Amino acid sequence: MRDQYGREIRYLRLSVTELCNLRCRYCMPETGVHKKRYEEMLTEDEMIAAVEAAAALGVTKLRITGGEPLVKRNIVSICARAARVPGIEELCLTTNGVRLPELAGTLREAGVSRVNLSLDTLDAAKYAHITRVGALADALAGLHAALEAGFARVKINTVLIGGFNDDEIEALSRLTLRYPVDVRFIELMPMVDGGAFDEAAFIPCDTVLARLPQATPVAPDGGVARLYRLPGAQGNIGLISPVSDHFCAACNRVRLTADGRLKPCLHAAGEIPLKGCTPEEMRERMRAAIWQKPACHAALSAREHSLAGRAMHQIGG
Ligand code: 5AD
Ligand code: SF4
Repeated sequence: MRDQYGREIRYLRLSVTELCNLRCRYCMPETGVHKKRYEEMLTEDEMIAAVEAAAALGVTKLRITGGEPLVKRNIVSICARAARVPGIEELCLTTNGVRLPELAGTLREAGVSRVNLSLDTLDAAKYAHITRVGALADALAGLHAALEAGFARVKINTVLIGGFNDDEIEALSRLTLRYPVDVRFIELMPMVDGGAFDEAAFIPCDTVLARLPQATPVAPDGGVARLYRLPGAQGNIGLISPVSDHFCAACNRVRLTADGRLKPCLHAAGEIPLKGCTPEEMRERMRAAIWQKPACHAALSAREHSLAGRAMHQIGG
């Protein structure tokens, strides 16, 4: 359906858990996550009912996020059921990749059509630093598992952080030469619990272009990324600029948190509770929430933090 500003909402991002096996500095506090009570969280049946409600309103694309969706015990069942919901044409999943070696094949059989993998650096010491507890080898094994399982158009998400990984723009981009993957650079968003990043960390995606003079523009694929390609590459370079050039006017998505709050806008505090609703109530609340999706969010910068009211691991990006 369309919102009151005429934007066609076709995309639901469903966070299935706030928990994660990593502790990325821009996403969650060092102490990790305060685990909410089971009764506060959506059940699997409620998640599927929400997907059905969204599909009835015209949503065709579903992305499963977290936290880390692959630490969710019943993730395969959630994916298998969501993939079968009439109207859902594309089921995508965003993961840190750590558990993909065990799960990639099963997820593909369950009906997941595409996976996005988070990877901010190719340096083992830097990976351990930014994730606080992770090992680069695990993420790379996850990437290989995704490719071996036969997922097409695998995307790598890299949060661009000045002074941390801007010296790896070329190396990360070269992954598109070696593998059939897109590498997408995402501007660091100043979130709640998003860590102590100084002003120099917030660099615009145009920095990427300055480092890749040989990259040429590619027609957009309907997503929010501006696309480029290196000569001879198998995949694209994507630039996602939520801070320097927000894409609110073209926003086609809503989000549902693991504790059952529908968020019409990532960077706005507004949340509509769906936990405990009947399927009919869910659909009507969703309809009202989509209609009232904010036109635009407030400015973001090193000094202007997101008004999301939640940390990223509680929303799912
Ligand atoms: N800014 C930009 N991207 C972020 N992500 C998590 N936190 C932030 C942030 N503060 C990214 C993750 C993952 C995706 C779901 O969101 O790296 O790729
Ligand atoms: Fe986990 Fe993703 Fe947050 Fe990192 S960014 S802590 S992998 S949810």
